[in-house]
Amino acid sequence: MQQIKFVDLAAQNAEIHDEVERSFARIHAATAYIGGPAVKQFEDEFGAFLGTRHLIGVNSGTDALRLVLLALGIGPGDEVITTPMTFIATVEAITQVGARPVFVDIDPQTCNLSVAATRHYLEAGHFATPNGPKAIMPVHLYGMPAAMGPMRDLAKEFGLHIVEDACQAHGARAVVDRRWLRAGTIGIAGCFSFYPGKNLGAWGEAGAVATNDDNLAEQITLLRDHGRISHYAHQVYGYNARLDAVQAAVLSAKLNRLEKWNARRREIADSYRELLGGTPLPLWLPSEPPDVESVYHLFVVRSPRRDALRSALLANEIQCGIHYPVPLHLQPACRSLGYRAGDFPESERVADAVLSLPMHPHLTQTELERIASVVTQALISDHSMFAGEHYDHRAACLPPPRGA
Ligand SMILES: Cc1ncc(COP(=O)(O)O)c(C=O)c1O
Repeated sequence: MQQIKFVDLAAQNAEIHDEVERSFARIHAATAYIGGPAVKQFEDEFGAFLGTRHLIGVNSGTDALRLVLLALGIGPGDEVITTPMTFIATVEAITQVGARPVFVDIDPQTCNLSVAATRHYLEAGHFATPNGPKAIMPVHLYGMPAAMGPMRDLAKEFGLHIVEDACQAHGARAVVDRRWLRAGTIGIAGCFSFYPGKNLGAWGEAGAVATNDDNLAEQITLLRDHGRISHYAHQVYGYNARLDAVQAAVLSAKLNRLEKWNARRREIADSYRELLGGTPLPLWLPSEPPDVESVYHLFVVRSPRRDALRSALLANEIQCGIHYPVPLHLQPACRSLGYRAGDFPESERVADAVLSLPMHPHLTQTELERIASVVTQALISDHSMFAGEHYDHRAACLPPPRGA
């Protein structure tokens, strides 16, 4: 049986091979490996794609988040509000600048930071640090933009920065103030990861910051390169957080195909919904809220029978993942923050039910049909074991249907 891959980077590489070879020849001829024309070209191209004034290449998404917080002067005594349903890097960046991450729960429809829960925390005013919150860090999880319009209004009301973690959302869009904007260009800064498996992925570590704020861009440009203002002059202590030319060349080649690849991901999401929707199976499928365009970095279903479903997929040579099985407030690394099980019930329910199906632009219709058939069979046979059981949709981690 042919394995169905979760992500197929080899298929992407085949598409960009010739273009990258030509770029590598130019880089080798110029021996411009750090900075140089390839980095500048990618920064210009990705900045134009996003529609942002500044795009600063850095060494990873984690660097991007950390450098933005540093440049905003966020540090000890400050809080940054974020979601427990994210990759740990979101919170690492906050702790690495000495600030305190404060979790608020998610909206179970989207798995993104709940605006209502954020408001509730801000209005209650029981802050954990002397200075209280300085920023909100929404994560556009799985490629689906968070509710940025209401979040921006809330941030304005409380005088907070919004730093977007757009590490999973290259090219996603949302309507804010009646305009379609790219994820990562709505707050004061947006942070991107180009980890190889992302929608726009490098051949190693890479990341970027997008911002329309001139001063912030200048600070981040200093910080990413040892605080340099010229070759031998260092204005401040900085970091080695630069994007290298080899990664930039790969990223430029992939950026030329990003719209096409994202469109294919959206088609695949529609196919999954067509093949798996409308059944009485205990399976919840993701859908887009109005005025939001996801780029489906991941296609994450939910089921109270998640573990049985995962076993069936793996037994049938279909790779899958769980993003994320443990919300961050329950991770050992976050113990010192003092949270306990039950603090964020929506995140905990979702974490017990999520399963990421294969999602990449080179999946074929035949593969999608095979995946859907295994999912359906697994849930039908598992369902029959529980015949007569009443499915409590809340206990089963499934949000109620829209409009219910
Ligand atoms: C939501 C989120 N934030 C931050 C990061 C960190 O990015 P990087 O691995 O490039 O440091 C990632 C990458 O996996 C991510 O998915």
